[in-house]
Amino acid sequence: MSHHVLVFDSGVGGLSVVAEIRKRLPGVHLSYAADDEFRPYGNKTENQLRRRLPGLLQTLVLMLNPDVVVVACNTASTIALEAIRDVIDIPVIGVVPAIKPAAESSRMGAIGVLGTPGTVKQKYVDALIADFAADCRVVLQGSTRLVVQAEQKLAGKDVDMDVIRAEVAPIFAGRTGMDIDAVVLACTHFPLLRDELKQAVRQSVQWIDSGEAIARRLEDVLKNISEAGAPPYPQTAFLIGPDTDPIRGQAFATYGFPRTIGLMRDE
Ligand code: DGL
Repeated sequence: MSHHVLVFDSGVGGLSVVAEIRKRLPGVHLSYAADDEFRPYGNKTENQLRRRLPGLLQTLVLMLNPDVVVVACNTASTIALEAIRDVIDIPVIGVVPAIKPAAESSRMGAIGVLGTPGTVKQKYVDALIADFAADCRVVLQGSTRLVVQAEQKLAGKDVDMDVIRAEVAPIFAGRTGMDIDAVVLACTHFPLLRDELKQAVRQSVQWIDSGEAIARRLEDVLKNISEAGAPPYPQTAFLIGPDTDPIRGQAFATYGFPRTIGLMRDE
């Protein structure tokens, strides 16, 4: 398969999804777009995101002409996926927080869901818990500071372990916390901090993200559509806003985007 897929996130988080797509579908051409200007999404209102995202994605699709868009962001997917699909006439794949596999793999029947504040308060997440984790005790935890830490890490800066510990501690603090043996990484930035998260927690925990499931879903979708051809700007990450930091550019290169181009939006 040599389709062209646009992967979108508020920042570098979608690179955790890119890694899984490249593993499963090495022939696919990927373009990447990061909405640095408006990040973090996790502390924005639903209205703000529903106002911004459809038009932004529509512009990117017109500019890059991909076969499929992957919204590699839990916050955008849980809040604005329908609104995005309404204005785009190619398949749009979103992220579903990995609540089902976490519930299935928890031996203690206790799971954590670690997402952005915007994601963990969504009714969609409550519905996933009701459908797939009804027998589990579930602790929800929202964090924006972990998004900042993941961005710092990929910009070559030190990760602050005190922040990592402080952000995950509430999951394990209460009565249920002692039993939690699986945590859903319900933000695509968080798999980029997997080593730090493991280090920050004493008890044995599986950290479960949706990257592989998205790659599988993408494979299914691509089977049913014809290829539109190579991207106009191969192996390129488009960074919306003024952040063209060269070290961050190197991080994109390690995920297969040796060229980063800054895009300025005139609101
Ligand atoms: N990576 C995103 C997510 O999966 C958004 C993080 C943010 O911008 O707050 O939710």
